Amino acid sequence: MAKARNTAFFCKECGFESARWLGQCPACREWNTFVEEPVVSREAAKTAAVGKVRPLKKAVPLKLGEISIEENDRTPTGFDELDRVLGGGLVDGSLVLVGGDPGIGKSTLLLQVCRSLSAAGKKVLYISGEESLKQIKLRASRIGEVTGALSFLCETSLDVIQETILAEKPDVAVIDSIQTMYREEVASAPGSVSQVRESTNLLMQIAKGEGVTIFIVGHVTKEGVVAGPRVLEHMVDTVLYFEGDRHASYRILRGVKNRFGSTNEIGVFEMREQGLAEVENPSEFMLAGRPEGASGAAVACAMEGTRPILLEVQALVTQSNLGIPRRTAAGTDANRVNLLMAVLEKRCRYEMGRYDAYVNIAGGMKMSEPALDLAIVIALVSSLKDKPLDERTVVFGEVGLSGEVRAVSLADQRVREAVKLGFTGCILPQICLEKMDTSAFAGRIRLTGVRNVREAIAVL
Ligand code: TYD
Ligand code: MG
Repeated sequence: MAKARNTAFFCKECGFESARWLGQCPACREWNTFVEEPVVSREAAKTAAVGKVRPLKKAVPLKLGEISIEENDRTPTGFDELDRVLGGGLVDGSLVLVGGDPGIGKSTLLLQVCRSLSAAGKKVLYISGEESLKQIKLRASRIGEVTGALSFLCETSLDVIQETILAEKPDVAVIDSIQTMYREEVASAPGSVSQVRESTNLLMQIAKGEGVTIFIVGHVTKEGVVAGPRVLEHMVDTVLYFEGDRHASYRILRGVKNRFGSTNEIGVFEMREQGLAEVENPSEFMLAGRPEGASGAAVACAMEGTRPILLEVQALVTQSNLGIPRRTAAGTDANRVNLLMAVLEKRCRYEMGRYDAYVNIAGGMKMSEPALDLAIVIALVSSLKDKPLDERTVVFGEVGLSGEVRAVSLADQRVREAVKLGFTGCILPQICLEKMDTSAFAGRIRLTGVRNVREAIAVL
């Protein structure tokens, strides 16, 4: 008789399950990601899940009219930046994944959120599988006094955690991190695909069944996905990524998925000695320390969700000594930079092929909005000709392949942000200028509409 199979192959990246090993994952197209793991017996998983959390009973379907939406079912977290990314506050009973590189500040952020939620009268349970209670206390002492019902638990067994949550009935719980948690029924090691998947499953049932809001911390591995766990992304309600340059002090919290709001919002924080502080005006923050009168720089206005952010685009164009000139782009799409240089070469007759070019978004911010195109072009030409652009001028617009400057969305919001920060000039697509109600900015900013790259360069 054939031996019963009790292992399967899983893709580390996305959780795809296969009976045999595969070189490339058919789901996420990644190579060499399959690992062999024991499979969870369906029966064991079922009894564990159904038997413990929710006893079976007949369900009652409701009509839409019978479902009440309470206005106040969102809880402010005490951080406006986080509330905005969440779509206006924390939804009760939701499951939120906070992903990010190790050491970026996930535990710090969640500890601060727990602190302010408990101060607002919520019962909060912080469960750490990574740090000892002593370490947590040390961290907590850095961020300040803790008041209210905030308690801590060091535990990695989800079965124990489940019992604890059922007994303690907290309003909010934090699981730090999902990669350290394990369930008894699952034979594989913590952090493996099946463990992470089954653990999240259980947390989902606890969140939905008990109405507990649960934050899950997930570490991103070298490959840029939460270890083992893009598996998690489709199971949870909200996915937030905490990112930033480890060497810079600011951090960006980005909504990647949100069942309760839009996803293109970001929150900006700064890592300080006493924990994370909100950055209310990111433009000012990003432009701090800008050199005056330097060539090869242009300030662009990009949109992050509903929020305009001013950034400095820097370019350095130098004579090349190599057959194939060097091209690098930091903080923006390198292919886009190559494309823009090709446009300059073909449409404006600059011999870009003889020059090396380096493009950088100052401050380490990552941004690939097409509205940055025009600023990149201006910065490149400014560096090539060694002619500085007026430092009080903002530039935005998308550049097309024939060198035309195309319209971008929300132009007036971008201009308003520039005015707010004291800029006196703005180069923008002519089409945007025509549609805009300019009376609001009259006398405060000089608006220059351009139809193509050549017109924009002429302003230099
Ligand atoms: P941490 O929250 O432990 O990261 P994660 O949970 O994402 O792995 O963040 C640790 C880093 O933050 C560490 O390098 C020290 C720094 N830090 C501060 O700069 N100020 C602080 O007040 C705290 C608590 C941490
Ligand atoms: Mg941590």
